[in-house]
Amino acid sequence: MNNTAIVTGASAGIGRAIAMQLAGRGFDVVAVARRQEKLAEVAAEARKQDVSGRIIPLALDVTTEGAAHKAVALANQNGPLRWLVNNAGMARFGEFGRTRISEQLQTVELNCKTPLAFTGAALPHLIANAPSNILNIASLAAFQPMPFFGLTYGASKAFILSFSEGLSEELKDKGVTVTAMCPGAVETEFDLLAAPQVRRARQWDEITPEQCAAIALRGAERGRVVVIKGVRHRANQLIVKHAPRWFVRREMARRRGGVVGFPKEMLPKAEESNELIKKAV
Ligand SMILES: NC(=O)c1ccc[n+]([C@@H]2O[C@H](COP(=O)([O-])OP(=O)(O)OC[C@H]3O[C@@H](n4cnc5c(N)ncnc54)[C@H](OP(=O)(O)O)[C@@H]3O)[C@@H](O)[C@H]2O)c1
Repeated sequence: MNNTAIVTGASAGIGRAIAMQLAGRGFDVVAVARRQEKLAEVAAEARKQDVSGRIIPLALDVTTEGAAHKAVALANQNGPLRWLVNNAGMARFGEFGRTRISEQLQTVELNCKTPLAFTGAALPHLIANAPSNILNIASLAAFQPMPFFGLTYGASKAFILSFSEGLSEELKDKGVTVTAMCPGAVETEFDLLAAPQVRRARQWDEITPEQCAAIALRGAERGRVVVIKGVRHRANQLIVKHAPRWFVRREMARRRGGVVGFPKEMLPKAEESNELIKKAV
């Protein structure tokens, strides 16, 4: 019997890559997402690659009542649960007052409440089966407010970063590591869904989901609490940490999400952006 893992948002992007890499390490992975057909593809891919672990698809919306308990029960049926990866996330970019409040609330539901529900449901098993790992996919957006661009998204990632750091201390003597991976730009469907109205420009230091997954898993295996990839991202994080708050707020507003992770060229000019968002909502 293999050890098991749960990965939320495993049908695409970073979550899919993490699920595949955990299966490659011999874990049976409960892969959770809404799109059944995409999960079936991930499972087929794992079989094709003949990895030592299995992908066990679980098609559901992770924000629904009881989702976390269903995932944990399925993992427990298949073997001792050793990994929880809270990866599923969303954003709706744009000036807050011009976006739909229902979508901002949905962002909080998915990015904040859901990881808490999954952590709560998995924790007793992760402690019983220690050593084990919790990996939360945060973002560079966690380190500063993101006016005119991703207010709710930034705040939701600040929440998960703070939660991860605090929980890592609580679980220190219980053999459960807690890691917050804070990626910059990763080549996935994410931006397209978050801001379909925005032109996408590739960044020179954008990484693939596979690279992001490898960095995150390595960080978690080494017991790192916060993982930030790359010199530019570390430098940005240091500036944001040490500069006065008023300066960071003003810069972020001026650049409309252009300081960390998101280059200015990715976004239309303010007036253009407001027009596009008006059309989109
Ligand atoms: N891409 C980036 O540049 C970037 C940078 C920093 C941080 N991140 C973070 O990385 C994480 C993964 O992002 P990604 O770029 O890989 O995004 P993605 O390609 O859009 O994938 C998101 C995944 O989450 C799943 N998902 C979304 N809502 C769900 C729900 N209600 N229930 C179940 N599954 C749901 C999606 O599957 P279904 O649609 O099949 O449900 C999909 O598998 C997110 O937390 C994001 O904030 C991304």
